[in-house]
Amino acid sequence: PIEERISLLMKEMTLEEKVGQMNQYNGFWDVTGPAPKGGSAELKYEHLRKGWVGSMLTVRGVKEVRAVQKIAVEETRLGIPLIIGFDVIHGYKTLSPIPLAEAASWDLDAIKKSAAIAADEASASGINWTFAPNVDITNDARWGRVMEGAGEDPYLGSKVGYARIKGFQGETIADLAKVNTIAACTKHFAAYGFVEAGLEYNSVDMSNSKLYNSVLPPFEATVQAGVRTFMNSFNTLNGIPATGNAFLQRDILKGKWKFDGFVVSDYASVREMIAHGYAKDEADATAKAIIAGSDMDMESYLYVAKLVALVKEGKVKETLIDDAVRRILRVKFELGLFDDPYRYCDEKREKEVVGSKANNDGVLDMAKKSIVLLKNAYPPGRNENLLPLKKSGQKIALIGALANDKNSPLGSWRIAADDNTAVSVLEGMQQYKDNQLTFEKGADLLSQKATFLTETVFNTTDKSGFEAAKIAAKNADVVVMVLGEYGFQSGEARSRTDLNLPGIQQELLEEIYKVNPNIVLVLNNGRPLTIPWAAQNIPAIVEAWHLGTQAGNAIAQVLYGDYNPSGKLPISFPRNVGQVPIYYNKYSTGRPIDSDKNVFWSHYMDVEKTPQFPFGFGLSYTKFDYKNLQINKTAFSKGEKIEVSVDITNSGNFDGKEVVQLYIHDEFASIVRPIKELKGFELINLKKGETKTVHFTLTDAALGFYDNEGKFLVEPGMFNIMVGWNSNEGLTGKFELK
Ligand code: IFM
Repeated sequence: PIEERISLLMKEMTLEEKVGQMNQYNGFWDVTGPAPKGGSAELKYEHLRKGWVGSMLTVRGVKEVRAVQKIAVEETRLGIPLIIGFDVIHGYKTLSPIPLAEAASWDLDAIKKSAAIAADEASASGINWTFAPNVDITNDARWGRVMEGAGEDPYLGSKVGYARIKGFQGETIADLAKVNTIAACTKHFAAYGFVEAGLEYNSVDMSNSKLYNSVLPPFEATVQAGVRTFMNSFNTLNGIPATGNAFLQRDILKGKWKFDGFVVSDYASVREMIAHGYAKDEADATAKAIIAGSDMDMESYLYVAKLVALVKEGKVKETLIDDAVRRILRVKFELGLFDDPYRYCDEKREKEVVGSKANNDGVLDMAKKSIVLLKNAYPPGRNENLLPLKKSGQKIALIGALANDKNSPLGSWRIAADDNTAVSVLEGMQQYKDNQLTFEKGADLLSQKATFLTETVFNTTDKSGFEAAKIAAKNADVVVMVLGEYGFQSGEARSRTDLNLPGIQQELLEEIYKVNPNIVLVLNNGRPLTIPWAAQNIPAIVEAWHLGTQAGNAIAQVLYGDYNPSGKLPISFPRNVGQVPIYYNKYSTGRPIDSDKNVFWSHYMDVEKTPQFPFGFGLSYTKFDYKNLQINKTAFSKGEKIEVSVDITNSGNFDGKEVVQLYIHDEFASIVRPIKELKGFELINLKKGETKTVHFTLTDAALGFYDNEGKFLVEPGMFNIMVGWNSNEGLTGKFELK
């Protein structure tokens, strides 16, 4: 009946009203004040009242949403409700870890739950559509938006994207009508993660092989999960802006994948096709975007200004408008907005849900699961690990401005959360009262306040706090140093050419090390950092990303061993920026190793070619032994299932969790295949002393690949297999596909 209701409604709609549904405006009006006068705000207000706005973004809170919805429903001729979009990227007010950190958990149930918490809070605040998940695969940590995706791997990225859709939207399309779910938006379609040199908004030039095999699979996985909307991207792909790219939006997304939701442009990206040099003027940009399959114009003001005339002049077919409007209305119907446009506008629910205890508990759980233990060696002259910290009788010096920061852990892309609402590391560690804890910042990270909208390059050079920090370190048994990036030093428009610890933090670290080498380095960052000196010298390193509202509690619980870390890196950490792009699933090259004992092989003169920490890497306080890798046969025919098993024993002193990872390598094919590809993983819980057998099943879907025309091929030949604890180490086997 939804399709019939859409047809009936569309019969009533004028061309102007149809085009209005395809127009989206950013919030423009303080509903507590008078109606806007002058400039773009007045224009938007007028358009809203005429029924020329189908959606608004960045309006939030029941009061505001109700006010704009009321205009759409009560003042326009047909009363079509607005769909209200918002960047709920890693939580609404109660924040989960940044998405890159969540991916490090490899815990799909937890990731789904985290998205459900975000949906619960956002929907309680009037929002019914999030611009997430970002499923952009990337190999380049210089690009600041690496914090928003699931890292470098298409298999992990697909699983995470799928889980997040289910978390936001519910299990089935019917669940969308529930009051605590919201429509999701897969973005950015496509290849935005491969902007040249990691430079924001830059161009992308990419082979078909990479596009089909690395970039597109996570997008397709979200279509399979039932995602209702897509957002295109700012970049060009092989010379064509994504917004004007019919191959991506019409052929692949709506054609091959049969996506029946709608595509929203990225912010002003329809208009930006003029700056790209792809459209000659506003009308041309408008025509190119709709013809290519962009259904809704976010804040370019162009569809609303140009589309009606273009249709009347015969330059754009009305059937394209009808198709776009049907898609948009479909999602509005599915959300239940036609049954009750105010269903997300319940003040009582807003009060109860936003910031609730249950949601805080949920994001704390996610935050703990996102932490990755990178190193836990014996410090010089000691014969025990620093971690976990002893719970009593210790003098601990906590050093670093980030340790006492309640804003930075919230990370980037958190526009609904109030500033300074994170639990700091200092607050988290203060919960453990039987140690003597002193705090010294050592140095500020930034010399002026950073926000989402301002530059964050102002690293301080003031070393006047070093001395006090050194004294605190000297008097301590253990030093915990919290260093890294400020929350807004990664994210959109935060490209970097240097991936070291920003500012004078490296110097601070080395100075402290001179007086006390018993250092636990806790990293806060939104992307891989290059830390070769620390990796070599510092005995314990904990990757704690930007973990959201409960960051400090999560970090303290891991440091004190109340939670045994189980995260694994979803992205390779380079040794230096010159290695970028660096990723585990690369091709072999013709000269992969130094077999001739001469210089002419694929390597660098000045640094090893391996990453500092590989994809899939992460330690635990306990030890896992892998034994007995078995493949049920040595040769298989196409279509047969390949059964792989391995025994894992927890042989250490703590209960713990392990992510068991399965990689394949297709030895030779009609198009070269990566040296390793993740094709399965299992997160297991093992008690001290316990052994479990983990089973994997591989099908043709895991063994095949896309050719350069996008055709999926499964070719016979030898396959190597590795089941391991990271992308570099594990047990190996082999089988043949006949
Ligand atoms: O959702 C975002 C997108 O990722 C970047 N440009 C703006 C959009 C809406 O805020």
